[in-house]
Amino acid sequence: MKRLSETPLVHEGARIVDTRLGRYTEVGARTRLTESVLDDYSYIVEDGEVAYTTIGKFTSIARMVRINPGNHPMERASQAHFTYRASAYWPDLEEDEAAFFEWRRSFPVTIGHDVWIGHGAVILPGRTIGTGAVVGAGAIVTKDVAPYTIVVGNPARPIRRRFPEDVAERLLALSWWDWDHERLRRALPAFRGLGVEAFLEREGI
Ligand SMILES: CC(C)(COP(=O)(O)OP(=O)(O)OC[C@H]1O[C@@H](n2cnc3c(N)ncnc32)[C@H](O)[C@@H]1OP(=O)(O)O)[C@@H](O)C(=O)NCCC(=O)NCCS
Repeated sequence: MKRLSETPLVHEGARIVDTRLGRYTEVGARTRLTESVLDDYSYIVEDGEVAYTTIGKFTSIARMVRINPGNHPMERASQAHFTYRASAYWPDLEEDEAAFFEWRRSFPVTIGHDVWIGHGAVILPGRTIGTGAVVGAGAIVTKDVAPYTIVVGNPARPIRRRFPEDVAERLLALSWWDWDHERLRRALPAFRGLGVEAFLEREGI
């Protein structure tokens, strides 16, 4: 049986570079994370790729999701790798083009808490996905996604809200994702058994 813990669970062939993995996190086989944060209780399964991205807590990321695929320098005479990954082509060059990678870093992606990103979705550079949002399978996210909103398609468009605005605001005020492990354990029956309104009332919000 799988057991998660304070130590992240990283599967075979994953490549994690300059990335912070929080408690109870899991990274699937062959998934690559570069210069990113995967905060507590979040997971990403197999064959994903994430760069320059901050992912909040309790976020669920399906297979083959790509977050922040980098743009090429389209405005130059050539947009090909040899211009910015030059060290791969000429042994006398030890460094790639630092300024180009700084430019890519200047388009970070931010993903909130309790977000669900469906199979094969793509989140383009610089976008923000609000807490509680859902990104449908195969969606291409080209615009920011508001909290507790469900988006689908290419380009991704909202189809409906997950909860009405007042409920979303109360959930954001409650911020249950900041509870400690024991409090989450005690609240499990309420998460499972109560509707969202009753859950919020139980918490006095
Ligand atoms: C986004 C999602 C959660 C919406 O579920 P839902 O609210 O039950 O949506 P419905 O099936 O009622 O569909 C509502 C409309 O959106 C469309 N739609 C739903 N999901 C879509 C998707 N992924 N891409 C494009 N259109 C989609 C439907 O065709 C329907 O359109 P219509 O109103 O024109 O008929 C779901 O469709 C989805 O994509 N889930 C991801 C599953 C997944 O990837 N799991 C991976 C393991 S974690």
